[in-house]
Amino acid sequence: MKIIRAKDYQEMSKIAANILQDKINEHPAITLGLATGGTPEQTYAYLSEDTQTSFEHVTTFNLDEYIGLSPTNPNSYHYYMNKHLFSKVNIPTEQIFLPNGFAEDLLEECRSYEQKIKQHNGIDLQLLGLGQNGHIGFNEPGTSFERHTHIVSLEPSTIEANARFFDSIEEVPKQAITMGIASIMKSKEILVLVSGKAKNAALEQLMHGKIDEQFPASILNTHENVTIIADEEALGNIT
Ligand code: F6R
Repeated sequence: MKIIRAKDYQEMSKIAANILQDKINEHPAITLGLATGGTPEQTYAYLSEDTQTSFEHVTTFNLDEYIGLSPTNPNSYHYYMNKHLFSKVNIPTEQIFLPNGFAEDLLEECRSYEQKIKQHNGIDLQLLGLGQNGHIGFNEPGTSFERHTHIVSLEPSTIEANARFFDSIEEVPKQAITMGIASIMKSKEILVLVSGKAKNAALEQLMHGKIDEQFPASILNTHENVTIIADEEALGNIT
């Protein structure tokens, strides 16, 4: 894994946005895997400000979506992506894919989401955040590394961490659809963004811990093209 050290959140975001811009400019019809959460917000802001990079031929697949929230619910990941990126760049709507957490047949939704990724020849560049418990996407500790897109029950710690986006913790959905670890690992290249003191222990485990399903992100050590961009707070004393 390659590590890029950034001074702070802003610098981490700038570096990530620059990498994404370069990739899009090199391969205008790139398929990107995207994440939500606090970490990539500023990366999306930088991408949105850039008028030189065209999203006209870009296709995107998001990692995950809560079950039971409609796309217009301000806490849904559909809403988040529209707000932070899609409404601000020239990406055609039909090239945007997120799991539908409102689907009637959720198992069929998982199957067809995975199928759609395959039809697009897989993800060229996947952006990831890192959960404090090592989750990537919504793949919680203990998830098999073999899983593709599936339904998950969120860990109490994840519900707690995400409660900051909701009016109360009771409103945080208990389930989500997520790309599985196997789906993520098929991406040709992976970019992991890690910022802030709260992620220090998880980053240390990712960089120096053993590969274990109890720490989902540890599998990234076996992927041949992973870059971590971490800021000083997240890195702390990790060498
Ligand atoms: C979001 C996602 C999650 C987050 C992780 C970190 O689509 O898949 O794995 O990346 O929970 O979240 P933040 O960035 O809010 O710390």
